[in-house]
Amino acid sequence: MSSMPSSPSEAALPDWLWRYLGVAAPAEDAEWQQGGQPFVMRGGIPRSRALVSAAQEQTEQVFGFKWQKRDTFDRPEVLAAHRSWMLQRYGDPTSFAWLDNYDKPPLLIDAGCGASWSGLELFEPVLPRLRYLGIDISEAVDVARRRFAERGCEGGFVQADIANLPFAPGSVDIIFSEGVLHHTDSTEGALKSLARLLKVGGRFMFYVYRRKGPVREFTDDLLRDRMRAMTPEQAWKAMEPLTRLGIALGELNVEVDIPEPIDLLEIPAGRINLQRLFYWHVAKAFYRPDFTFDEMNHINYDWYAPRNAQRQSIEEVRTWCQECGLEIERERVEEAGITIVAVKR
Ligand SMILES: C[S@@+](CC[C@H](N)C(=O)[O-])C[C@H]1O[C@@H](n2cnc3c(N)ncnc32)[C@H](O)[C@@H]1O
Repeated sequence: MSSMPSSPSEAALPDWLWRYLGVAAPAEDAEWQQGGQPFVMRGGIPRSRALVSAAQEQTEQVFGFKWQKRDTFDRPEVLAAHRSWMLQRYGDPTSFAWLDNYDKPPLLIDAGCGASWSGLELFEPVLPRLRYLGIDISEAVDVARRRFAERGCEGGFVQADIANLPFAPGSVDIIFSEGVLHHTDSTEGALKSLARLLKVGGRFMFYVYRRKGPVREFTDDLLRDRMRAMTPEQAWKAMEPLTRLGIALGELNVEVDIPEPIDLLEIPAGRINLQRLFYWHVAKAFYRPDFTFDEMNHINYDWYAPRNAQRQSIEEVRTWCQECGLEIERERVEEAGITIVAVKR
């Protein structure tokens, strides 16, 4: 019988990963201690068995479920829209001059890689120049590994909590964390814990949710609270009426004139599409006419189903960066979130 992997996802993880972890490639089901944390080899991927909080566990389940639904995020048009938004925020990795500074491929940790939806879209053109290590707390790492194999890309994958990685301080060149830090138990804690792993001169690229107006914040907390006891399947279904409302509002395609700022509700004056008014100030009911119903429902589910979903201010982010020696070199503050590229000093 051939010993070749029977599917692309079964390709062996790269040798550099074992050198980085300081263990010989473990056999399936082997258990070991990684920096004092219990690990097991399952499905060809090293997985931490460290305990996490109930909120973190619920968050893990919710994401593990959605990243299996590849038909709700993997269409070329959806990927292209996401890639274009990331390029605007981070810039284009093919033109990062600092990537030329390395004589051997730098280690990039995609912290909370999920299915590597963002990681692959942003870094694919420069992947041959990197050692890409995708880490996620959920089984999405299996999907990420499969997607890498399908595109003929090389990457290492580990299932673990990015807020508690058993790796040596100062051992990582680049950390990329797109839309993840706020899904840990503490955005600040995860940011600081990851920053310790960075080498001096290393880059930290991340995106976190930004705090919204008071009504939207209230709705967001209320919905998350009501959904916390649901299974992922129930939560997916529970989102569908909201998704339908977003579509109905979007299809109306009408604008309203807000005659003067409503300071108490933090709603600015001016013309705004009715769906956008509802979206930014009442509840996240995503609408894009070129997306399918399930693609829109995916986005609403992603927002409301996880129990861990902190929202931050730019002042908090700046303070935390300063406290852990991260000098911000690129900062982009949008209504939805905050994108940072920082250098470790
Ligand atoms: C919104 S998704 C983003 C995934 C990926 N960064 C992307 O943009 O395609 C958030 C991801 O963070 C992961 N996550 C949440 N808390 C985590 C933690 N403490 N450690 C590792 N991953 C975590 C979830 O499992 C999920 O895959």
